[in-house]
Amino acid sequence: MTAPLGLAGRHIVLGLSGGVACYKAAELARELVRAGATVQVVMTEAAGHFITRATMQAVSGRPVFDSQWDSTPPAGMAHIDLSREADAILVAPASADFIAQLAQGRAAELLALLCLARPVDRCPLLLAPAMNREMWAHPATQRNVAQVQADGATVLGPGVGSQACGETGDGRMLEATELRDALAAFFQPKCLAGRTVLVTAGPTFEAIDPVRGITNHSSGKMGFALARAAAEAGARVTLVAGPVHLPTPAGVQRIDVQSGQQMFDAVLPLAPAHDIFVATAAVADWRPAHTQVQKIKKQGGTGDSVPPPLMLVENPDILAAVAALPPAQRPWCVGFAAESENLAAHARAKLVRKGVPLVVGNLGPATFGRDDNSLLLVDAAGDHPLPPADKLTLARQLVQEIATRMAAREFA
Ligand code: CTP
Repeated sequence: MTAPLGLAGRHIVLGLSGGVACYKAAELARELVRAGATVQVVMTEAAGHFITRATMQAVSGRPVFDSQWDSTPPAGMAHIDLSREADAILVAPASADFIAQLAQGRAAELLALLCLARPVDRCPLLLAPAMNREMWAHPATQRNVAQVQADGATVLGPGVGSQACGETGDGRMLEATELRDALAAFFQPKCLAGRTVLVTAGPTFEAIDPVRGITNHSSGKMGFALARAAAEAGARVTLVAGPVHLPTPAGVQRIDVQSGQQMFDAVLPLAPAHDIFVATAAVADWRPAHTQVQKIKKQGGTGDSVPPPLMLVENPDILAAVAALPPAQRPWCVGFAAESENLAAHARAKLVRKGVPLVVGNLGPATFGRDDNSLLLVDAAGDHPLPPADKLTLARQLVQEIATRMAAREFA
């Protein structure tokens, strides 16, 4: 089962204009339905040359509309009725010609007509452009895109890459899952708009020699979910990640590191330029005092070799160092406490020891690598549990809690 994205119960009008990328629209409709949304497909005549109504009806589970002369909707007013019940209209693919029609307020076909007739304050319009790179770069297209944005439309992408025409460049429609996630992000409250957020995530790897090292079971999922949730909430996010195989959340700037010292060296210069610092990383407490340049070989025979001595030294505490920056350079700091017992007591002790305004406790061994978790927020006001949920849902709640505390601090 995929994690809840916040699209359940949403009603989306999915518009298709003409373009090869129509093949991705079928997958997009499936992804939206799978995420719990209802999808009403509206196609232009040109789209019908690239994908059939039957396919789109099958994947959306609803009859497809493609004509303003269709008498099926109540009162026969498809261009009015369809947008009245929609939470958003997403046009994917949005061709150069379709964007030009929107920019001029034309309404010759049902899809353009319903975009024009939608209540702009209640029914947002999102466009996923798809076209050849020269068409995208053309001043006329750029002018039209700027115009539709000025008129309130949100443009998703386009992406960069190889194109159906054989060329490579800007103009590819985003992939179905990217569009699904962008739509989910669109609906999130922008409670961190204008803020900058720095996040550490994942484990660290402390090399013993070129093939061995000390690490831990942290999957990085909570930190990546938090970076994603902060970006969805409108923040500019920098994510400093230890060694994990997770995709970078959309819009997040990622810096990969291996060791705790590298994470420290990456974070400290960045911290003063950020409003909020959230330390979710499970930084190794100790590292080998010396990393051997060559692989350590067994000394002695098989079964009775002498283990090499392993001298450890403590890693620098990144969170404590950021929290100790002078007030003018110090972001608002959030620590995580991964504990195996006595969560509330250990989390409160860390609040004091690290000198931070908020510590988020979780029972580490039970949740490492899982998709769900439960959190305990500990601050000067007391303990506040966030009950079990998937990590994205918890991350969005935590972002809201952080935003509330930031706002209260500024009004204090
Ligand atoms: N942390 C950090 N740098 C370190 C160690 C921890 O930034 N060298 C941060 C973690 O990212 C987390 C918080 O400090 O936000 C608490 O980490 P945790 O491992 O739970 O606690 P420790 O300080 O390591 O203490 P202990 O291992 O004794 O529980």
